[in-house]
Amino acid sequence: MNYNICVTTAFGIEGITKRELAKLGKENIPAKNGMFSFYGNEFDVAKCNMFLRTAERVYIKLSEFPCTTFDQLFEGTAKIQWSEYINFEGQIVVNGKCVNSIIYGISASQAIIKKAIVVSLTKSKGIKILPETAERYKVEFSIIDDVCSIYLDTSGLGLHKRGYRDLVGEASIKETLAAAILELSVFNKDKEFADPFCGSGTFPIEACLYANNIAPGINRSFDFASWKVFNKDAYNVTLEQAKDEIKINKNIRIAGYDIDKNSIKLAMHHAEKAGVREYIHFQCRNALDFSSHRSYGVICTNPPYGERLSNEKEVSALMKAFAETFAKLPDWSLYLITSLPGFEYAFGKKADKNRKLFNGKIECRLYQYLGKKPPKKND
Ligand SMILES: C[S@@+](CC[C@H](N)C(=O)[O-])C[C@H]1O[C@@H](n2cnc3c(N)ncnc32)[C@H](O)[C@@H]1O
Repeated sequence: MNYNICVTTAFGIEGITKRELAKLGKENIPAKNGMFSFYGNEFDVAKCNMFLRTAERVYIKLSEFPCTTFDQLFEGTAKIQWSEYINFEGQIVVNGKCVNSIIYGISASQAIIKKAIVVSLTKSKGIKILPETAERYKVEFSIIDDVCSIYLDTSGLGLHKRGYRDLVGEASIKETLAAAILELSVFNKDKEFADPFCGSGTFPIEACLYANNIAPGINRSFDFASWKVFNKDAYNVTLEQAKDEIKINKNIRIAGYDIDKNSIKLAMHHAEKAGVREYIHFQCRNALDFSSHRSYGVICTNPPYGERLSNEKEVSALMKAFAETFAKLPDWSLYLITSLPGFEYAFGKKADKNRKLFNGKIECRLYQYLGKKPPKKND
């Protein structure tokens, strides 16, 4: 079947997701409001879910229609051939948003859309009630500027949920954002990598998945994989492809450090769950003691943020001290994401580049300090 596939991504990382889509054969797809839209089949849906490291979710767009009344909302929704997408025994969950439109009631819109789906499915099956006992179908709507769009969420859980981070760390970075920062960085499998403030281990684990070519979706499930009216082979074949593409590189050097021993325990537990524990060196250590005798390494990190003013002073002092540690590694590159106001002032050095990003809802900046380049082979 030919679907209108829509891939969403976070503010500031559209360009990186675009590059990832191109690697999957979907080239030059423009993003509009953080959404990439293109046509593809079940296998494309499966590949986007399995292989995109930086995307948020993968949807199938079912319809778009003008919508200023609840009647139009009902009619527009009921016109969709729901039995082509949803097994009549499935659980149907409707969520969405209304922006800048005459219709502004989210719960009223949810109820109308659900009713239209139920009417359409019961009619096509010749039954009175839907059992809603089988697999889940998440229907997402958006009514923006009086235009309603209806989507099916093929991912289920957001794609940042890789399946390894089951315990909560303090101020963890989103896995998709960590992956995007790694993509932006000069890191590759031949370079040493370290996160001196690793917390629950997100950066080292994402670096290890990347360096070993382990697909981010290999250890989790997706809603589409259990859909009765979806080609089962799409998931199974893609999972086999992901397994075949793993290239374990025993020479990678990836490390995570944290001053807090419970964070290190948590990071080790997450690495174990991700299947990469043996490739990452974790150690309880002060970031200010970080050193390396290797050259051209890469640090990606998010140090404590200092959300409150009292903490801000402490974090600024920590950043000042960390700048001295980093200064001893002139050929290393640093990618540091923080919401700390005046970070460069505290660090005492202007970044080579910086860009605005969001860690969840927190506005941050990614400061990039590029180390000396290695000599060219014939130098
Ligand atoms: C924002 S959290 C990092 C979150 C991490 N990226 C994750 O995804 O879980 C900051 C971490 O820095 C650690 N930390 C604070 N001061 C430190 C220091 N001087 N040396 C090393 N780690 C430190 C904290 O224990 C905390 O785990």
